[in-house]
Amino acid sequence: MSVTQITPSGLILLLQLAEQMKILVRDRGGDNRLAHHILGTVFFEASTRTACSFQAAMQRLGGTTIHVDGEGNSSANKKGESLSDTIQCLECYVDLTVLRHPVTGSVGQVVQVAAKPVINAGDGTGEHPTQALLDLYTICNELGYDLGMNESKTGGLELNSKNDKEQKTLIVVMLGDLKHGRTVHSLSKLFARSGIKVILRYCAPPSLSMPQCVQDYVASYNVEQQCFTDMDAAMVDADVLYVTRVQKERFAKVEDYEAVKGTYVVNLEVMKKAPTGMIVLHPLPRVDEIDTRVDSDPRAAYFRQMENGMFVRMALLALVMGKVDGGAIM
Ligand code: NCD
Repeated sequence: MSVTQITPSGLILLLQLAEQMKILVRDRGGDNRLAHHILGTVFFEASTRTACSFQAAMQRLGGTTIHVDGEGNSSANKKGESLSDTIQCLECYVDLTVLRHPVTGSVGQVVQVAAKPVINAGDGTGEHPTQALLDLYTICNELGYDLGMNESKTGGLELNSKNDKEQKTLIVVMLGDLKHGRTVHSLSKLFARSGIKVILRYCAPPSLSMPQCVQDYVASYNVEQQCFTDMDAAMVDADVLYVTRVQKERFAKVEDYEAVKGTYVVNLEVMKKAPTGMIVLHPLPRVDEIDTRVDSDPRAAYFRQMENGMFVRMALLALVMGKVDGGAIM
């Protein structure tokens, strides 16, 4: 439901397993550990990456999928069926469900009545926990941190560089619509929870700043947070620039959206000034916040980030279905 449910050791297990899944896909395409298992993907909001990567993950592990387009004409939602009835019905046919819904907290409510595992694929402006997991996996991978990382004495994760083994403090800039962007809510909280040494810099127009409840959660783990409106200032010495879309569909008035859209655009000029070792991430879809000419810059990691989503979701499905033997591939 939420990244706040994961422990540092659970996170290590998941990231390591995701790495094994990447190798499995590369070497053999997948395996059959989830044969005769069915995943239900129920989406009441648009999705390309999350739905397809969960479906591909399930199929690469030998399972199959049933997709319900919650907004479509074939959905009983059109006849007035409640969300919890839809999920309880689908559970008669599937082994686990991945659910996306526009109402914040709705997925958490469904879990109260669900008999089988439900994975939150995004609940309104709340959370998008599996995106945060793949974001963290990508950051470790791209910046060359050892995924065989250990839990420190204080119970947090230590990021060890493959080269110099020193403990480093990451600087992560989150840019754009931090108010409505559920991916940055989850990622901030996951960083706090992980114990990784990090400074979180929030760069947004004042009307789209990071919600106080997220900042309070992060502060409770003593993680340093800094607020910016100037993109160049925020990027000084940054390791990660995490760009988000201004979420048009979440605004009550279109004028409010028009007033802030296009505030930040990452283009070639911005990249020229950016640190040479800084990676650019984006959960996608993008609208105009990253110029397509940036795509060929080696620091643009958003398409690799998207591919990693499948490996992380393979790991998650295997763990949730209990098809992992002590963290090793079965
Ligand atoms: C994001 C989402 O749905 O929250 N997309 C995704 O899952 N990769 C981001 C967005 O819609 O802007």
